[in-house]
Amino acid sequence: MLPLLIDHARAAATLMHPAAVDYVGTGAADEVTLDEAEIAWRDWRLVPSVLAGVDVASTRTTLLGCDLATPVLAAPTAYHRLAHPDGELATASGVADAGSLMVLSTRTTVAIEEVAGVLDARGTPWWWQSYLVRDRGLTAALAQRATAAGARAVVLTGDTPYVGLRAREAHGPPRGTAELMHDNLARHVGSADEVDAEQALVQAPATLDDIGWLAGVTGLPVLVKGVLGGADAERCLAAGAAGIVVSNHGGRQLDRAVATARALPAVVDTVAGRVPVLVDGGIRSGLDVLVALALGADAVLLGRPVVWGLAAGGGAGVAAALEAVRADLAHGLGLLGVGGLDELAQRGRSCLVPAGPWRGPGGPA
Ligand code: FNR
Ligand code: LAC
Repeated sequence: MLPLLIDHARAAATLMHPAAVDYVGTGAADEVTLDEAEIAWRDWRLVPSVLAGVDVASTRTTLLGCDLATPVLAAPTAYHRLAHPDGELATASGVADAGSLMVLSTRTTVAIEEVAGVLDARGTPWWWQSYLVRDRGLTAALAQRATAAGARAVVLTGDTPYVGLRAREAHGPPRGTAELMHDNLARHVGSADEVDAEQALVQAPATLDDIGWLAGVTGLPVLVKGVLGGADAERCLAAGAAGIVVSNHGGRQLDRAVATARALPAVVDTVAGRVPVLVDGGIRSGLDVLVALALGADAVLLGRPVVWGLAAGGGAGVAAALEAVRADLAHGLGLLGVGGLDELAQRGRSCLVPAGPWRGPGGPA
């Protein structure tokens, strides 16, 4: 993990309420998937090219028509006002400073239109993350507000039929999160008391048909988040998905779900370039990003590091975290002998070998 992210995590642990620290940090059940997320990116070794003529490697890319300075995006995460009083407004300004893209959670604690105002003023693209909440009218109304406010795509989270049982969170999210969501939900529900996260925002049973339903109500491309297998990716594409996000929800849903670093290659192979493939989970350095992109991802998302940055330094903390990972990626690209992301995609898995036990003379058996 990059030193700056460690510093942010430490600062966040002292600045946030202990219940919020647990909420952000926790994984599901025994946290097997959480524990594996970061180390799984280290299962690959790189094969650099010498004398490759790289001066400064570029990290610019284009994703579903969005021009970005970096392939490192802000994942949708809930309740940013648990981390900082300005909540998603501060996150948005940090994402804009970093030249990145923000995925705004259904569980935003600032009204969609206000967050969009910050992003729009900076020309920063953003996507709406949709849960299919039990009230389909509310689901549609939120997605349509996001569309009207300028969202360029919808990310449908498909791995949360209900919220997983979390290890460090005996009684659900920290107190007060329903009230925090009221600033966004006020026009749909009455008093803050009526915003019962477990009632109003609980997921409804969702199916592949909902991909087309959301595309229909918004007119936007719909990416599906939470895919971990090739066959599942194929079903999502057949149902109209415009992108796939390989994710196990930061190890917060099905514990013992496969690490995204391991799941990614099969999804990339199945999708075969038809739509963008994104990945998240345990990405904590530019070298993790480099491996993800060499395996075939088009972009990555950071979950907890963005929340830690927000808690530690508001918008400036978010920008610093995203920029540190981008700069580390650029540094790694240059040392690998690759000048930019198109070239890395062309080189692909030819610059990777699996890490394994040393089998040479004198090494362990
Ligand atoms: C999340 N995640 C998430 N995903 C989503 O689709 N909607 C949401 O509202 C949330 N909320 C949320 C809150 C918190 C505190 C965390 C840590 C995560 C999952 C998130 O988008 C992403 O998949 C993971 O966080 C990626 O893993 P890392 O980067 O946190 O290891
Ligand atoms: C989370 C989503 C469910 O806490 O908000 O991961």
